[in-house]
This record gives sequence, structure tokens and C-alpha cells, in this order.
Amino acid sequence: MKYNIENNINNNKYECLLLNIYQNIIDNNNFFYNKYILKAKKKYNYKGKINENIIINNINNNNIDNLILIGCGKKEKLNKKIFLNIIKNSFYMIKKNNYKNILIIFNNLNIKNNYWKTFNYINTFEYYNYNFNKFKTKKYNLKNNKNIYFYINKKKENNNINLAINNAKIISLGIKKSRDLCNTPPNICNSKYIYKIIKKNIKNNNNIKISYLNKKKMKEIGMNAYLSVNKSSSNEPLAIIINYNKNNKEKPIILIGKGITFDTGGISIKPSNKMWDMKYDMSGASSVYGILYIISKLKLNINVIGILACAENMIDKNSTRPGDVIKTLSKKTVEIINTDAEGRLILCDILSYINKFNPYYVIDIATLTGACLISLGPKINALLTNNKKLSKKIISASKESMNNIWELPLFNEYNKYLKSNIADIKNCSETPYAGTITAACFLSYFTKKYKWAHIDIAGTAYNKNGSTGQPICIIVQFLINLFNKK
Ligand code: BES
Ligand code: MN
Ligand code: ZN
Repeated sequence: MKYNIENNINNNKYECLLLNIYQNIIDNNNFFYNKYILKAKKKYNYKGKINENIIINNINNNNIDNLILIGCGKKEKLNKKIFLNIIKNSFYMIKKNNYKNILIIFNNLNIKNNYWKTFNYINTFEYYNYNFNKFKTKKYNLKNNKNIYFYINKKKENNNINLAINNAKIISLGIKKSRDLCNTPPNICNSKYIYKIIKKNIKNNNNIKISYLNKKKMKEIGMNAYLSVNKSSSNEPLAIIINYNKNNKEKPIILIGKGITFDTGGISIKPSNKMWDMKYDMSGASSVYGILYIISKLKLNINVIGILACAENMIDKNSTRPGDVIKTLSKKTVEIINTDAEGRLILCDILSYINKFNPYYVIDIATLTGACLISLGPKINALLTNNKKLSKKIISASKESMNNIWELPLFNEYNKYLKSNIADIKNCSETPYAGTITAACFLSYFTKKYKWAHIDIAGTAYNKNGSTGQPICIIVQFLINLFNKK
């Protein structure tokens, strides 16, 4: 879709004008369309409630053919969250009617920030316009030839709105690329494929270096926890490292994504019902890819190292057994209680490996625990961290980007659940209590030397429509904020 600014409503011909209408209020400005709204109110008993959206065809105005009215509800109740829902409704009204030239007027609303509105129209439209049809022989793609015009009445705002358009385009494209990778089936999307996609979409240049740790290298340095997960897979494990360096003086922010391209559970096998979902167990890695794509296009003046910890948790005669003890890269020994708690095993070795980068902050993103979906449900990311300031920054980025995150406590009371009789720790608790917290407790053994946050996205990363691209917007906002403070 194309996005443009329109400073003069009478300049162009539009197939459709999209108007946001408050409940029971008629705009007191004198736009020509007021008479149509009045008509609609009479004829259709249109009230302008939320989710009350109608089309008025053939209005025979000089330059507008059709009118879409989007109900915005009560004026005093309108807030940004509700507005995002209004934008979503707008998208489906346009899609249903397949209009190609659309003028959007939003300057009549009490949310005044035109940058915010423009940015979120684009981000939301692109999000819902997404579909993954690469594997369908018959492509029924919605034609992408729409032209969206935002009416901006003050020309001097154009620069700022153009910035909103450009930023939103970059961010929504990064999210799209991440969702595409995440939705790719596990017989194709293995570690090597992920590496190939990254090399294709993020090009090496002065600021970006892409490299990886392969099986040989992992063996050499002792990443036995990581390797134990991949033992029965015929695909080589790769920890893909994207080094974005735009500020030599600063310590790097390190982002780590869990990239299990398929999680059978291993010997502690998962039930077959919904096992196919476990192709999404690389959502953390695909998010990190999206984030690195975005910040490299936004050219943020910051150092970020993204690490995609890719492996596959399969089963055969070589599989790691429940009861095995392995020595991690940190030299700590781990007794494997459950081979389905594999994410923390690949992560713990990466969390040790990155000490050498002397990180400023470390954030890992992982579909780590089913318990996360139980405790916070499908719309809220979980945050656990060893640093108050980092927590504050992530939470405020979540509010600004309108994506939910909620902090769970990382109290050391539950460390006792990880005590092992024969090794330093167990890989998981044997009680079902507080699974998201005990998983983070496990990781916290390996993150003592730096400020670290763990984001569990097991609930949010995908839904019945596939990958959601969570929590890319939060982390991008977090990085933009860091960049702006400098
Ligand atoms: N990838 C799963 C977690 C998961 C479950 C993500 C459902 C998305 C939806 C993870 O590897 C896992 O299997 N975790 C176990 C841990 C348990 C064995 C301690 C779980 O949550 O059951
Ligand atoms: Mn698992
Ligand atoms: Zn998993």
C-alpha cells in the first residue's frame, strides 16, 4: 500500500473518504460531508458507536465517490487504545469494499498527535493486511495497489508526517519479514534457512557484520547444553550473530532470541495435539531478526548485537535422556529432568558466551514456558529481570508502543526448586508451580555479570492466524528511547 499526505481536500478525486465520527456529535466545522452524516443518522439510525461503521455509496460530490463512516464512540472516552481498534475497523471496511484511493480525515478527533495517528494507521493497516500465502498454489492476495491519503491541513506539518510515514513503513516491513520467517514450516525453516534469509535481507556493510557459531565451534568451546538439545536433529545448530555497530564508544545491547525451529519435547515428548504449533518455537529468533532489520534501516546511533540461538529438539537413539548430566559453557553442571525444557538449555550457553562482549544490557526473548500462556494469556508478554532500571525502561517502551508487558517477580525463593542431588542445578522444577518464574530462575544462574531481562512470549508470539511479530514494537521503542537520550 502507498501512503501520502493530502493538504487540500479538493485537489484530487477520491474513490472513498474515510471519516471518524463521534457518537451523537456532528462536527461543527462546515465540511461538505456533514449533510451526509445527517442523512445517515436519519436513514440508518446511525449513532457513531464503536464498531458501528457504514458505507454511503455514490454521494455525488465533485471529488468523492463514497463515504465510510467509522464510529468512534463517546468523545470523552476516546483514547489511544480505543483508537487502535478504530483503525483496525477502518482497515476491514476498506478491504471489504476493495477501494483503491482513500482519503482519511482524522483532524476532528481529540487525539491531536498527527504523527502518532499517521504512524499507527500505517502500522495497523500493514499488520492486518498481512497474509502468508507462499505455500498456496492459488494466491488470493488482496491487491496491494491501494493509495492512502492522510489529510493534513497545515502544510508546515508535512515534514513531521513524512517522518511518521517513513518510520512506520520501515517498522511494519521489519515486522512483516519477521512474521514471514516465523510462519515458514519447520521442514524448510531450519537453522541454515534462517541464516540464508538473514544474509539476504540484512546486508553486511560498514555497520553490520553477520557471523555464526556452528556445531564444530560450539563443541570446541564447550557449549554442551546447547548441543544436547540438537543431538537428534539432522539439521546443524547455528547461533547466528548480527552485529550492528554504529557507535564505537558504547557497550553493546545484546538481544538473544530462542530459535528452536521445531520442539517435539525430545524424549519427554509432547502430546501430538497441537504439536505442530511448535514450529513457532523460533519466534524469539524471528523477533530479533525483525528488530535488527528495523534498527539498521532506521540507522539508530547505537550498538546492538542480535543472537539467534537456532536448534531443533528432535528424538532418536542419540537423544539426550531425562537424567543425563551435562556441563554447560559456564562450567556449571545441569541435570536434565525434562528434555522439553530445552529453550533454557540453548539460552544458558549463549548467556555465558556473551560475557565476552561486555554488554550494557542483555535481553532474551523466548517462547519459553506454556505456563506463561496460563498466567498472562495471549495478549500480554511476561517480563522478568535482575535490574529495576531496565525493567522501567522496557515497561515504558511497552506503554508508548501500545503493546502489553507485565513484570513477574524473580524472587530467589523458587531457586530451591532447581536444586539437584547430583549436579549443580536441574534444568526445571518438578512442581508445576510458577513455571515462568522458575524458568527465569534457571536463566538467572547464568546472568550474574550483567543487567538482564527475560521476555517470555509463549502466549503472545502466535495465534490462530500465525505469527504476531511480538514483541518487536516494544524492543524497537526501547532502543529508540535509548538512542534519543544520547
Ligand atoms: N516451547 C515450549 C513452551 C511453549 C509451550 C511455547 C506452549 C508455546 C506454547 C518449551 O520448550 C516447553 O516445552 N516448556 C515446558 C517446560 C517444562 C517442561 C518445565 C512447558 O512449558 O511445559
Ligand atoms: Mn520444549
Ligand atoms: Zn520449546
